[in-house]
Amino acid sequence: MSNNGVGLDEVSADADGTGRARADLTGVAAEPGSAKPDPILVADRVRRSFGGLTAVDVEHLEVQRGTVTALIGPNGAGKSTLFNVLTGFDGSDSGSWTFQGGRINGLPGHQVARRGMVRTFQLTKALTRLSVLENMLLAAPGQTGERLLGSFLRWYWSRQEQRNQRQAEELLERFRLTHMRDEIAGSLSGGQRKLLEMARALMVQPSMVMLDEPMAGVNPVLVESLLEHISALRDEGTTILFVEHDMDVIMGISDWIIVLAEGRVIAEGRPDDIRSNQTVIDAYLGTQHDETTRSNGGATGNDGAAQGTEETR
Ligand SMILES: Nc1ncnc2c1ncn2[C@@H]1O[C@H](COP(=O)(O)OP(=O)(O)O)[C@@H](O)[C@H]1O
Ligand SMILES: [Mg+2]
Repeated sequence: MSNNGVGLDEVSADADGTGRARADLTGVAAEPGSAKPDPILVADRVRRSFGGLTAVDVEHLEVQRGTVTALIGPNGAGKSTLFNVLTGFDGSDSGSWTFQGGRINGLPGHQVARRGMVRTFQLTKALTRLSVLENMLLAAPGQTGERLLGSFLRWYWSRQEQRNQRQAEELLERFRLTHMRDEIAGSLSGGQRKLLEMARALMVQPSMVMLDEPMAGVNPVLVESLLEHISALRDEGTTILFVEHDMDVIMGISDWIIVLAEGRVIAEGRPDDIRSNQTVIDAYLGTQHDETTRSNGGATGNDGAAQGTEETR
């Protein structure tokens, strides 16, 4: 008899942190700023204002490792600004935050990404004049300093490049973009750019991905596959924090939901807690239909302005 003792299936079931991570949320209080048993991201007193407007004013926030956590709230609630600040793409007026136990406030975006926390933008950032594959390869680790390398290191780098290439091809396959591989990114549909953006983010094999409205403008078939990708990532142990407006999507996939309104966390909890939370209904769910319509118009994002990368047309 082969495979005596502990079966492989049992091992992988035990080794899969996901079930544990979700189970660990069972005892967590459904209230703003609640402590999580194993937070991957912890933020304190994060404030960002624009002139007289306080866009983000988060007292305390923890994201549990290995979960799909949704960040929801009305347009202008500060969701994108919070993403920008936490990932080092925008400064903050105050606040401190840690990722995997290490302080990351004050670090620029590329250093935050190197530590394993990557984000996508509400408006996509694909370099429209480069091919889909080139976009993927540019997102790969080890892109800098190439010209400085002598022949001694060339062998190593060509191995790295082969790995990057293989990974890029696999991700394009996974996101059904293989047929667009050599097309310029500018020729992709809005939905395909969203997929490319997510695929690019995964090139660095992050421990946490932050997705800003990944499904907005994506056709329903692709939304389904995006959701499968998100579940699969979680099952591999990746933490996902995502902004979304579609309540069916949110309730269906999220382990935990954080509700932001006027820059503050007004509620947190499991889908059932949030669905029946009167504060959330008053501040968001009651007006949600309008928000969905406007959000899908794609014109509410502010994150395209300051990034210096080529914007979608
Ligand atoms: N660069 C900016 N300059 C001025 N105001 C901004 C800027 N970015 C965001 N805001 C304002 O901050 C508030 C929060 O915006 P945002 O984070 O985009 O909200 P959400 O993503 O939840 O819709 C809004 O009132 C928005 O107009
Ligand atoms: Mg936004």
